[in-house]
Amino acid sequence: MKVLVVGGGGREHTLVWKLARSPRVDEVYAAPGNAGIASIGTCVPVAADDKQALLDFAREKEIDLTVVGPEAPLVAGIVELFRSKNRRIFGFDSRGALLEGSKIWAKQFMKRHGIPTGGFDIFDGYCAAESFVAEHEPPFVIKADGLAAGKGVMICSTLAEARAAVGAAMKDRAFGEAGSRIIVEEFLRGPEISVLALFDGKDYRLFVPSQDHKRAFDGDLGPNTGGMGAYAPVSLYTGEAAERIRTEIIEPTFEGMRAEGIAGAGVLYFGIMMTGDGPKVLEYNCRFGDPETQVILPLFGGDLFEAIWAATEGRLGTVRFENSAAAAACVVVASGGYPGPYTSGYEITGIDRAREKGCIVFHAGTTMDGGVLKTAGGRVLGVTGLGTTLQEALEAAYAGIDEIAFTDCFSRRDIGRKGLR
Ligand code: AMP
Ligand code: GLY
Repeated sequence: MKVLVVGGGGREHTLVWKLARSPRVDEVYAAPGNAGIASIGTCVPVAADDKQALLDFAREKEIDLTVVGPEAPLVAGIVELFRSKNRRIFGFDSRGALLEGSKIWAKQFMKRHGIPTGGFDIFDGYCAAESFVAEHEPPFVIKADGLAAGKGVMICSTLAEARAAVGAAMKDRAFGEAGSRIIVEEFLRGPEISVLALFDGKDYRLFVPSQDHKRAFDGDLGPNTGGMGAYAPVSLYTGEAAERIRTEIIEPTFEGMRAEGIAGAGVLYFGIMMTGDGPKVLEYNCRFGDPETQVILPLFGGDLFEAIWAATEGRLGTVRFENSAAAAACVVVASGGYPGPYTSGYEITGIDRAREKGCIVFHAGTTMDGGVLKTAGGRVLGVTGLGTTLQEALEAAYAGIDEIAFTDCFSRRDIGRKGLR
């Protein structure tokens, strides 16, 4: 079988790595891929959001299965386009992708189906939003409705910050059209869990629950990033908490999707906060998480190709779907300055030594330049360690991290610490 993975980050390297392990997969392509993916499969210079060029490539190469990594092509309707030409693709169609592509749509979906989430108000004009924040007590969570490259969530602890956030979204159009409507959401407190489910339109299976670290610096300080590291499993996800997440969130969500005719197979990511008042949905994503994928797929004991293929045929229940009882930790190595401006093009050293120490090194923003591996993004690498306990997995990951170097690189030193307590 020939598989095409759309995207070129750490998540896609992990997908390619896992898919290539299936005895049924003969060739893997990635568009556009990265330097790590190029050591497993073939990278093709097609942008992840150019759905027509991706379809043309899939037809020309007779790709049997296309797996979409990022949200943008899903929101833009790549699934409908492939299906209209009878090309098999894994991911939700543009309506399903609205669960991520429109925060307002997602909130209204949760309301329709009684799924617990923070209280919210919706605004489509600056004046109404500004008066609302002026009349209520901070903190506020202000979210642009549409996709904003991970920058559309602003947590405001003062009225001045909230005014600035509303102005940035609605007056200055800092997020373009994505900010023409906003949500002002109740600020929730508690630990977060990422639960990823494979859905076949009827049935679902869960990957091992994980925890991301969104802030740039140790101690959960600094700006929000795409994610600086993750670990799994999460001990919070046990017993009654797991049962509540299943019965109050996961099952009503899939029932709601079925009831609303959101058909098709995909991965749904539940971003959940464990509040004093029970688990609540912070967000849905219509795709695998990054860096969560770098820990959940190394712990996935089944054949990912088989599972995805079966999901696209609505028969997930017929495949072996097992998660290992071991632990995994992934620590991201980022370019100095990320998530703000940073410089690329620095030589990366130490990956082989990190591998010798037992790590799996997933590439995110890397490129091969004249035979030299160089940085080419904000998040550069994800170093995953495995162990029978979280402590062991973290020791393995940090032993690898200590080998890797490039100018101005940084990583958090406290990934997974919360899980050890
Ligand atoms: P989102 O993209 O919606 O997941 O938001 C990014 C991050 O912002 C989340 O992982 C949380 O850490 C934080 N966040 C989002 N919504 C809320 C909320 N209602 N209360 C507190 N923190 C939030
Ligand atoms: N790690 C968060 C995300 O993938 O959205």
